[in-house]
Amino acid sequence: MLAWLTRHITLLVGIAAVGTIVGIGITAAYEPTATAAFITARQLYGLTALGVLLGACIIGPLAAVLPRLPGKGVLLAGRRAIGVSSCVIAIPHVACYLGPVLLQNWRELFSPGWLWVVGLVLGLLALLDLLVLAWTSRDPAVKALGGNRWKRLHRTVYVATPIVLLHAVFVGADFGFARPPTGEADYGSLITFAILTAVWLALAWLRSRGIRWPARPASPAHPSSETTP
Ligand code: HEM
Repeated sequence: MLAWLTRHITLLVGIAAVGTIVGIGITAAYEPTATAAFITARQLYGLTALGVLLGACIIGPLAAVLPRLPGKGVLLAGRRAIGVSSCVIAIPHVACYLGPVLLQNWRELFSPGWLWVVGLVLGLLALLDLLVLAWTSRDPAVKALGGNRWKRLHRTVYVATPIVLLHAVFVGADFGFARPPTGEADYGSLITFAILTAVWLALAWLRSRGIRWPARPASPAHPSSETTP
């Protein structure tokens, strides 16, 4: 079963991503007005894209710290597809905001104030990075870039993810700081994403210290190998 999952995980993640996009679209369509539908859709797409992005970031450090984690191979095999899915889900998020705003009143891009504008710029920077990472996740691009350059480029996700978090805090109604022009603000997502980010950073720190569980048995020939990350 695990071998089958490992072989097909990319396809399964792709199907889940498309299903999520369609599901959110259908959920939003039940809102009483078109404006409410676009707000619901952009919020749900944004929250899902961030959740998936954090999930993709957590897999690497988690697998390193817990080498015997059941299903670790499946997670590692699906990591690239999960990261690409985050970018794919972020596209309707952006479209559901920019579409109506540009068509109805483009001044809404600036009118909520400087925090809003900075938040939007951060979102744009993160989106550009995610697009580059998604594009270079195809096998030919991996080959063309070469292992080291590909790894260096893809490490930028460790910058893009905090940028998305800041973007969400600056403009997201569900993070409680922003007062968006439409929609009510609450703190619903702040705690969840703060916990997820703390887990990610803690795991990354443990990995950087070479800490793993269960600990690697000491090799008599190379006793110092235990401290190698
Ligand atoms: C050009 C790029 C982007 C634009 C213009 C944009 C626009 C927006 C806007 C207008 C909101 C406020 C939604 C609201 O609460 O009513 C928002 C929130 C959010 N965005 Fe973006 N965004 C961009 C990129 C991204 C990316 C790349 C991600 C994730 C990978 C993302 C994730 C989020 C999250 C998590 C929220 C908070 C949603 C909530 O509080 O319900 N955004 N974005």
